Amino acid sequence: MTDHYAVVGNPVAHSRSPQIHAEFARQTGQDLDYIRLPAPPDGFAAAVEAFRASGGLGVNVTLPFKLDAFRYATRHSGRAQHAQAVNTLKFDGRQALGDNTDGAGLVRDIEINLGCQLAGKNVLLMGAGGAARGVLLPLLERQPRKLVIANRTPAKAAALARHAQSENCAGAGYPDLAGTQFDIVINATSASVGGEVPPLPADIFAAGAFAYDMMYGKEPTSFMRFARAHGAARITDGIGMLVEQAAESFFVWRGVRPVTASVIEKLRIEDRGLRNPALSC
Ligand code: ATR
Repeated sequence: MTDHYAVVGNPVAHSRSPQIHAEFARQTGQDLDYIRLPAPPDGFAAAVEAFRASGGLGVNVTLPFKLDAFRYATRHSGRAQHAQAVNTLKFDGRQALGDNTDGAGLVRDIEINLGCQLAGKNVLLMGAGGAARGVLLPLLERQPRKLVIANRTPAKAAALARHAQSENCAGAGYPDLAGTQFDIVINATSASVGGEVPPLPADIFAAGAFAYDMMYGKEPTSFMRFARAHGAARITDGIGMLVEQAAESFFVWRGVRPVTASVIEKLRIEDRGLRNPALSC
């Protein structure tokens, strides 16, 4: 019998998740289907209840429902607890396990797909909203030399750094970064959506630095273009993270880990005709 999964969001029409999970199911021989489940802004729980009543075993959760999903869950994984947000729900009778696979997806993409180890590096994480909070603990677990959270509203960066309870982690405003270079710069802001770039100093990238935008689109983002113009050695968007967080969710649901490289390459080629994970812009 076919098992049912879905992605819940608003909007959700352009989600790549159904295609990604269909590839995973084909590859691993798992008998499942995966649909888009749109919900009105105040209708997350009702949409999920209806999906469960029709036999749904789990959902991915995207904007703007990751906090609703956190509240909906009856149990939480440690990483969901730390992120205070849920992107994966697994149903088991009346129970709903809430998990968060975003940070694991980002770390796997950086370390395994792109071959860049976080241990011992100076890392800058831009943004202090939900996206940044979702990846903070998994990044710190890889033991960077230091991790600075920079935000337009510095008090939010300071609060997030306190939440991390790590002596390697500090909060800052962008002007505080003057004169400091980083090996890895990760954009977890929503600035790229509006074609903007956080106000970074021009010399922010250390020699050989790596720039990672958690956003993606058909064209390189504004942050990726900034990174190219200011000397970052390697630049990438968030397609790899998207596929890796999906693979982690698939593992949570099915206990099987799909191979991701071919799926990432397929999405990149469909979007841009590119084979190289380090994008040129
Ligand atoms: P998300 O869930 O995507 O993280 P969010 O919680 O609204 O969304 O957070 C958006 C983040 O992007 C915030 O850190 C925001 O900075 P503020 O806290 O100062 O608002 C950041 N952001 C959005 N637009 C930005 C811009 N143009 N420049 C710099 N930072 C920006």
